Amino acid sequence: MNSNYLIAPSILSADFTELGSQITQAEKAGAGWIHIDVMDGHFVPNLTMGPFIVEACARITELPLDVHLMVEKPETLLNAFALAGASSLTVHIETCPHIHRTIQTIHQLGCKAGIALNPGTPASAITPILHLADMVLVMSVNPGYSGQKFIPEVVSKIAQIRKTLDDINPQTIIEVDGGITPQTLPLTLKAGAQAFVAASAIFKHPQGIETGIKTLREQLPK
Ligand code: DX5
Ligand code: ZN
Repeated sequence: MNSNYLIAPSILSADFTELGSQITQAEKAGAGWIHIDVMDGHFVPNLTMGPFIVEACARITELPLDVHLMVEKPETLLNAFALAGASSLTVHIETCPHIHRTIQTIHQLGCKAGIALNPGTPASAITPILHLADMVLVMSVNPGYSGQKFIPEVVSKIAQIRKTLDDINPQTIIEVDGGITPQTLPLTLKAGAQAFVAASAIFKHPQGIETGIKTLREQLPK
């Protein structure tokens, strides 16, 4: 398998009565990262996980913990999530009026820094910060819930961001998140995405987690 591409299962759709064994199954099936969706009930309508869950995940897996902060004032939480074991901390541009400072803090905490943007936010909103970001997270649904339908307009935005990154920061990767299935993944891959988040296509797959990951990995370059 080409190591430039990976699947990041989002535990938002996991069965939390079985979280440890579900993460282990995902790891054995070839997951590259574990994606953890943090929601505050303000920036997005849903309320989900805090550092406590990240710390629990860190005890069960060696995989990098990819923490997606869908919260207002994310700068107040960075330290707690870094201490809990996050490998990368991704903040939304819509929530960060002082984005250079926020990215600098993430790096000082020893984490990779991701910058996310909602489907309605133009690519140009993140151009001034691309030279500092380790990852760009392009949302392909409006954040808040798993199981939503992929918004196809984001495909051209991925291509646009990839083109800009190739000019100024080629090693930065694009992650795509929302409505990713074996049908939608190839569209985003072709546009330049390298990391693919999926919750329902993995944890709600009728044949189980292993099949869910396998059917997504089959779409990746060999
Ligand atoms: C959406 C979250 C996603 C979500 C993806 O707000 O950021 O990570 O869990 O769920 P699916 O793959 O079901 O669209
Ligand atoms: Zn996410």
